[in-house]
Amino acid sequence: MPSSIKKQIETLREQLRYHAYQYYVLDDPDIPDAEYDRLYKQLVALEEEHPDLVTSDSPTQRVGSSPLTAFEQIQHQMPMLSLDNVFNEEDLQAFDQRIHDRLNIDRVDGDSEIGYTAEPKLDGLAISIRYEDGELIYAATRGDGTTGENVTQNIRTLQSVPLRLLGDDYPQVLEVRGEVFMPKAGFDALNKKAKQAGEKEFVNPRNAAAGSLRQLDPAITATRPLSLYCYSTGIVEGGAEGNGLADTHYEILQQLKGFGLPVCSEIKKVSGVKSCLAYYEDILKRRDELPYDIDGIVYKVNDIALQNRLGFVARAPRWAIAHKFPAQEEVSRVVEVDFQVGRTGAITPVARLEPVFVGGVTVSNATLHNMDEIRRKDIRVGDQVIVRRAGDVIPEVVRVVPGSRKKQLPEIQMLSACPVCGSAVEQIEGEAVARCTGGLYCKAQRAEAIKHFASRKAMDIDGLGDKLVELLVEQELIHDVADLYQLTAEALASLERMGEKSAANLVAALAASKRPKLSRFIYALGIREVGETTAMNLANEFRTLKAIQTSEYESLLEVQDIGPIVAQHIVNFFQQPHNIEVIDKLLAAGIEVQEVEKRDPSELENSDFAGKTVVITGTLPTFSRGEAKDRLLAAGAKVTGSISVKTDFLLAGDKAGSKLNKAEKLGVTVIDEATMLEMLG
Ligand code: IVH
Repeated sequence: MPSSIKKQIETLREQLRYHAYQYYVLDDPDIPDAEYDRLYKQLVALEEEHPDLVTSDSPTQRVGSSPLTAFEQIQHQMPMLSLDNVFNEEDLQAFDQRIHDRLNIDRVDGDSEIGYTAEPKLDGLAISIRYEDGELIYAATRGDGTTGENVTQNIRTLQSVPLRLLGDDYPQVLEVRGEVFMPKAGFDALNKKAKQAGEKEFVNPRNAAAGSLRQLDPAITATRPLSLYCYSTGIVEGGAEGNGLADTHYEILQQLKGFGLPVCSEIKKVSGVKSCLAYYEDILKRRDELPYDIDGIVYKVNDIALQNRLGFVARAPRWAIAHKFPAQEEVSRVVEVDFQVGRTGAITPVARLEPVFVGGVTVSNATLHNMDEIRRKDIRVGDQVIVRRAGDVIPEVVRVVPGSRKKQLPEIQMLSACPVCGSAVEQIEGEAVARCTGGLYCKAQRAEAIKHFASRKAMDIDGLGDKLVELLVEQELIHDVADLYQLTAEALASLERMGEKSAANLVAALAASKRPKLSRFIYALGIREVGETTAMNLANEFRTLKAIQTSEYESLLEVQDIGPIVAQHIVNFFQQPHNIEVIDKLLAAGIEVQEVEKRDPSELENSDFAGKTVVITGTLPTFSRGEAKDRLLAAGAKVTGSISVKTDFLLAGDKAGSKLNKAEKLGVTVIDEATMLEMLG
């Protein structure tokens, strides 16, 4: 019965559109992926049996056409504008003042009260998509603003772009404008694949998005993780009253969302310059956590009537402005390459650069990671390079500016001797990192070992900062961590910039650190690859320092999360006479390591957390996250950093963000601190 088949096909399509909307636009899927796939396959099967019933807006018809030989040109009926930029508060104030002036509005007590929307400025490519009677007709790039390229077949492959709008109250003609971008995770995955296949990697998500959208073969675009966020409209015709759209920009975006179009969830209504700036600061702080790259904030006058009164200049609207973030990449020149020795003896090449303002600070040093990276990027002293500083990440040299090397320059060579202690440098086969063999004798490693020992998560010695440790080592007042406990207030007070009070405080802090928990003490020793969790596992398993010190390789392998490499590091560490000497010296200086009480194994078995995987997020009311972690580990839980289907509990405090959303989505049980305490008994 063809009519009932037709109905069945239509129902399936509607279901699939609805679920795609829940997933891509609302970020709130209400069926598992497998169920979606099942419905999809059902539709494919029916359409194969009835090819005459296939329509171009069917969810199965995303990759329809065959490769093109070139893109056609499309004239934008309404030009696609660009935005003017500001880089600071003063220029933003001036923008706001111009709006007041043009609209003849006075500032109240010097304050602006113009209503704006504030939106992340996505770093991708502008696109215009035209819907007629709810059906996607074509999509065009911005081009020069007047003429763009017809990329319809590629845009159709984006899962978040509806081929047919939802509902029935959309305008007859609706052009939506937005940004096509590649989320960071998709970009990383794409580059990882390219690297594995020995192909060229993309420089950044923007380039990857551009390259993916400009593929002549839509089947290739379909494999690329592209997304879209809509941020405005172009031509709109034939809706209910007027054009059927609301009279504020913010509400229009909500309407677009209602039609099934994806809109960025960070967009907010703000009022006046002060709240624009607060929004800017908030997003700038969270920039690295956002799943996509942004390069600033766009403020738009919210009231469409006011927008119309303000109009345009040249190619930019008077009612909108982009407030750019400090660039995360800039060009500089490598003046020299030095080698730094880390706590574990790792030798890192560091580029000394001509100072450059990037990521909001002046950078004159950038890591080159290791020799393999230098070779891969072919960086040489004298080269012009791109320097990147994103968030709190250490600045790095991304690549040489292509074509900038005007004369031959010698390759950079690894040193054969440690620049600090002169010991031989070794490079273990298959390891990228070269290391100094000077161990605790190397001053650089000594200082780093002592800093680590004193750090908050280790012995937590208040007032013993990095600079002070360096000074103490430099002046040979201490040679190892045990010497710390021989320091007197007099000796300390004689140091430059050290008052009597701080000296006395430090001596008191050292005394107060003398009863560390076993796990902290083990962590403080700085054994390679033994972090807090491994130290905790070791402490719970062996319970005494002596037992850990004399543990054998095989028994170490039995401990949770310890594999052959870490086990070998632990064995090696305790085999070094020098390390045992230092530990003995620490004990002789009065360090009393708190052993872990013997626990009844049945107690653990009864624990609600035994063998469970827990993730902690947000700010807890009374515990620090570290303390909560200690308690959970002691109760037999495994504490990990990211939510997955394997997570049993999410311990969530205040300001829990994306982890909480993800947990809820995956159906992971969410508990608060009070519940944790209850469960811990
Ligand atoms: S509005 C008339 N909003 O920035 C308004 N643009 O520098 C024109 N962009 O070509 C654009 N995020 O590609 C607007 N939330 C946003 C945006 C945004 C990114 C891009 C867009 C535009 C360019 C202008």
